[in-house]
Amino acid sequence: MELLEHMESLAGALTERLSQVSSLPELEGCRVDFLGRKGRLAELMARLPELPPADRPAFGQAANRVKQRLTALIEERRASLEREREAALLARFDPSLPGRRPWAGSLHPITLAMEEVCSVFRGMGYEVVSGPEVDTDFHCFEALNMPPEHPARDMQDTLYIRDKVVLRTHTSTMQIRTMLQRRPPLAVIAPGKVYRRDSDVTHSPMFHQIEGLLVDTKVTLADLRGTLTAFLKAVFGEKTRVRFRPSFFPFTEPSVEVDMSCTRCGGEGHVHGETCRICKGSGWLEILGSGMVDPAVFEAVGYDPERVTGFAFGLGVERVAMLKYGISDIRLNFENDVRFLSQFTV
Ligand code: DAH
Repeated sequence: MELLEHMESLAGALTERLSQVSSLPELEGCRVDFLGRKGRLAELMARLPELPPADRPAFGQAANRVKQRLTALIEERRASLEREREAALLARFDPSLPGRRPWAGSLHPITLAMEEVCSVFRGMGYEVVSGPEVDTDFHCFEALNMPPEHPARDMQDTLYIRDKVVLRTHTSTMQIRTMLQRRPPLAVIAPGKVYRRDSDVTHSPMFHQIEGLLVDTKVTLADLRGTLTAFLKAVFGEKTRVRFRPSFFPFTEPSVEVDMSCTRCGGEGHVHGETCRICKGSGWLEILGSGMVDPAVFEAVGYDPERVTGFAFGLGVERVAMLKYGISDIRLNFENDVRFLSQFTV
């Protein structure tokens, strides 16, 4: 029975073919050739009518056996191909590599500097207060002893919302707002945004200041000096030295500008024989404006200048951040470049 032998030989032929199959698509081709609707087994089955009726049942049973055998051979090969593929994948995958960490955010350098300054003053008993960025001419200028013809009120420097309403040019507005709301003794600091018509490497039209105000009886310039020295040492290090230079602000009398020893050269004026580029060789950096609250300011808020005294100071936060973190261009702070921002992790 030639047809039957032919069919029994299919398993051997398939085994032979399978030894040359090296991929899953090839295996599928092979399966179609042998078991498909027009495959070799189906072809032989189609010749069933050629057989004498008596031989047909045996031929049918044999066909089923062969079919099972062929299917088993193909599945066996499929499993081994899949194992090989997995092994190849694992060979390229190093399970000992450290995992990728999710990106962690970090605080903005201005926020960090602001929080550090505030926490030093909180430690000295100051309360942190805040107020509006859009404020009146009265809070921003008039009550601070800056009469209408004062140059700081020039349209060139101040951003006006409308007549008598401005974007505050300094946080000194908070001196007036605080004193109108409270009675002495008081000690507050007010961090926040301020605005000026100014823009270059060291000036941004929006920047941050921290205002400080302490009012009590018998407050002296020595208290101011002690407070600011303690503050600057806390933020810039114990070795920091502080000096007062006479200056002028309309809202303080006397007024001083406060310098601290240079953060880069430590006051030497030079580094490795070269002139220090941060302090330009002077050894000093200007860091604060301050003074004793002018009696005219106390009068504007209804305090008796004969009974109370106080000091005030104003500090630029960008300057603190730039000195502390060695940032060279103020604009870097406002570009939102992650490569810059991600460097400031706590
Ligand atoms: N308001 C001043 C400015 O923006 C800074 C300042 C100076 C604030 C002296 C003060 C002060 O409280 O006493 O330039």
